[in-house]
Amino acid sequence: MKIDTNLWFDPRNLFVGGGWRPASGGTLSVEDPSTAETIGEIGRGTAADIDAAVEAAEAALEGDWGRMSATERGRILTEMGRIVLRRAEELARIEALDVGKPIHQSRNDSVALARYLEFYGGAADKVHGQTIPYRDGFTVYTLREPHGVTGHIIPWNYPMQILGRSVGAALAMGNACVLKPAEDASLSSLAFAAIAEEAGLPAGALNVVTGLGAEAGARLAAHPGVHHLSFTGSVATGRHIQAAAAANVVPVTLELGGKSPHIVFDDADLDAAMPVLVGACMQNAGQTCSAASRVLVQRGVYDQVRARMAEIYGRLESGPAMGGHDLGPLVNAKQKRIVSDYIALGRAELTVAAEGRIRDDAAPAGHFVPAVLFAEVPPDHRLAQEEIFGPVQVLIPFEDEAEALKIANGTDYGLVAGVWTRDGGRQMRMARKLNVGQVFLNNYGAGGGIELPFGGTGRSGHGREKGFEALFGFSRLKTVAAAHG
Ligand code: NAI
Ligand code: MG
Repeated sequence: MKIDTNLWFDPRNLFVGGGWRPASGGTLSVEDPSTAETIGEIGRGTAADIDAAVEAAEAALEGDWGRMSATERGRILTEMGRIVLRRAEELARIEALDVGKPIHQSRNDSVALARYLEFYGGAADKVHGQTIPYRDGFTVYTLREPHGVTGHIIPWNYPMQILGRSVGAALAMGNACVLKPAEDASLSSLAFAAIAEEAGLPAGALNVVTGLGAEAGARLAAHPGVHHLSFTGSVATGRHIQAAAAANVVPVTLELGGKSPHIVFDDADLDAAMPVLVGACMQNAGQTCSAASRVLVQRGVYDQVRARMAEIYGRLESGPAMGGHDLGPLVNAKQKRIVSDYIALGRAELTVAAEGRIRDDAAPAGHFVPAVLFAEVPPDHRLAQEEIFGPVQVLIPFEDEAEALKIANGTDYGLVAGVWTRDGGRQMRMARKLNVGQVFLNNYGAGGGIELPFGGTGRSGHGREKGFEALFGFSRLKTVAAAHG
């Protein structure tokens, strides 16, 4: 129970209707991926707990929360952001221990969570309807209203960022939320609930039920009292969520990862591009939905890019999360197995161009894998098509713009893309023709900006979160036509 002594809330409890209570399914253990040691317990919420949470959310909509003005909602979100900043270091520590994310990256996540709360807090009273010019004798206007109860199922890779963008926007629009965090990374969501309580968020506006996907998650997705679902995670689970949403005919936002291309043309500023080409995949040990896992390089600079990437790989170190190295461990044993299988397949069928190293102070039981770069990878190879979700990149050469586009658009996914070229016309053509939700020109990720609408095409999902755009997804439009002669 190492971590529990440092927490200011009891992680075995669920947060329902403004109060803390034990889960009806007992507990699940919390693992530190850097050591594979059990460091605490969380509650195993069941369908009954989800039902109670949905009921509490419905009551909140009928009560104080539902009556609150947009300005007051915004003020509470802003206050939550302030508390997050005050507790930023504690939150970062919790996340690093629970997820294995290097501590400096966890600190970024704390700040991003605060930024979401500030942004959506400020935006809450700035989303409004319109008046529509219509026939004589009528006045027509639109109202932006909350969906009602929103369900949020989030993964383990960026819990603070993903709950910030999803729950933050939903609360700003006046929805009452039920959040089911991933079983491998629930502590920061519980901390978030404690922060909401401290900030004075009315009872039932936010409910957090920890537990297993197949139990609590499945019930939340299927619950007939939920009016909107937001999910980030795997394609396989995303399909379940969309099917569950279909049964209740409710809207759903899906963010299902990708196989994002990072494209380097002959005329690129290579000095600027080089660290980004590697870093855009290695962040969080490659367990990032928008990881730049495919590096497409034009023939003229291919050998140079390969050699310079190899040099950077030679310095990459995987080590304990609290040590703040380039890479931490993967989140759990299952993820290590999945990624190790891909690396083994690559070693058998492809050329290894470079590898990072696992530090000597990394516990042997920790879920560490080295960073691996494969070269001359055929675009249709499994390692160039499937999401690996680990520190593995493939280098793919191309001849010209047309071929780059064909390869870049040639997977089932379409989340983000990066393009390095000094040719302005080519920048515009590529930005239009790439089948993705975000394009980065001469950068990758733009520092993660919480202001930037985000979401995918194809198997990467649909709907947009982040930025102002998310507020439209987390609300619905009503048209009122008044006949007055
Ligand atoms: P997952 O998609 O199964 O888990 C994500 C969330 O969904 C968790 O909160 C989980 O409890 C919940 N969940 C699982 N089954 C559910 C169900 N039947 N109904 C409702 N909720 C359910 O992902 P998992 O198994 O943790 O990771 C597997 C692979 O998914 C990874 O290797 C990676 O490729 C991908 N992934 C993608 C992410 C992204 O950011 N797009 C995040 C996490 C995983
Ligand atoms: Mg954990």
